[in-house]
Amino acid sequence: MGFFNLTKEIAMDLGTANTVIIYDDKIVVDQPSYVAINRDTNQMEAVGEKAKEMYEKTNERIKSVRPLRDGVIADFSACEMMMRGLIKMVQTGHHLFSPSLRMVIGVPSGSTEVELRAVRDSAEHADGRDVYLIFEPMAAAVGIGIDVEAAQGNMIVDIGGGSTEIAVISLGGIVSNNSIRVAGDEITADIQNYMSQQHNVKVSERMAERIKKNVGSALTDLSDEAPEDYIVCGPNRVSALPMRVPVCYQEIAKCIDGTIRKIEDAVLSALENTPPELYADIVENGIYLTGGGALLRGLDKRLQTKIGIPIHIADDPLHSVVKGTGIALKNIGRFSFLMR
Ligand SMILES: Nc1ncnc2c1ncn2[C@@H]1O[C@H](COP(=O)(O)OP(=O)(O)OP(=O)(O)O)[C@@H](O)[C@H]1O
Ligand SMILES: [Mg+2]
Repeated sequence: MGFFNLTKEIAMDLGTANTVIIYDDKIVVDQPSYVAINRDTNQMEAVGEKAKEMYEKTNERIKSVRPLRDGVIADFSACEMMMRGLIKMVQTGHHLFSPSLRMVIGVPSGSTEVELRAVRDSAEHADGRDVYLIFEPMAAAVGIGIDVEAAQGNMIVDIGGGSTEIAVISLGGIVSNNSIRVAGDEITADIQNYMSQQHNVKVSERMAERIKKNVGSALTDLSDEAPEDYIVCGPNRVSALPMRVPVCYQEIAKCIDGTIRKIEDAVLSALENTPPELYADIVENGIYLTGGGALLRGLDKRLQTKIGIPIHIADDPLHSVVKGTGIALKNIGRFSFLMR
């Protein structure tokens, strides 16, 4: 790193579930979006993975929070603290100077002016001097490797923790977008409720997420790709005595069906609102699924059957957005869709 090069350039996907940072072309931070705060001093106790470990286990002195909900900042000061903590994890080799920080951050395409302002303010308070915003589906498309500037319609469906964003992109712009606040967190909540009602076992949000990853499915018939039953341990909701419950993917598929249907309906309604020329391109090119929700078993197959258009899962769905913001960072002068 040159002595006079004192601008640190980072690209960030500030997500409801995970925050990922690219520096020097590499993913250097990939952490759950959690921050633990000391209530007495209002200082940060931990951030990322360490703060997630404390979640649902804190006492009166320490609280661990998720500063984003439904894809947007819900707790402004916690978000700032989290961003600061995560940016600090980026090792830049500068010790004598605090370099000025140039940042590109992905933001949900359904964001209001007030929400965009909140992200920008948080970044500036976390020492961002030169902050650019990019809409997440655009970043995801760039990250997937789609030529977003071509006269070609492409549809991106990004299923994150807090929101599902569906966008049609053509000629370097978002032609139409449909964003719903239904995504991975809601699927997790379905599982948490189901375990309590059906099996009388109380499970934490983190355990419900583990169930989702182990036996989550969008289809009740996965035939040869079926995962083995997952054993859930937890207290009986009434007696508080310990229980051991085997859970199969079929029952999880049933309990999350309503939420998956909401996502399906949003994709259908986005297609309905797509102009015919672009629609024809999408039928030809297929629909790109990304975000952590794209990893749900059988989701691609279910959508393909329902919609009749080929579905492609992005290669590395948890990183499409950050990769795109990283590419945007190197093309700041050229990409017209970056917002100052
Ligand atoms: N294998 C998997 N199966 C199902 N869901 C998964 C899997 N892996 C991760 N997820 C879910 O993906 C979500 C996180 O995805 P992602 O990191 O793309 O979200 P985010 O970008 O933080 O959120 P948002 O874009 O809504 O702000 C979580 O709800 C997580 O439980
Ligand atoms: Mg996301």
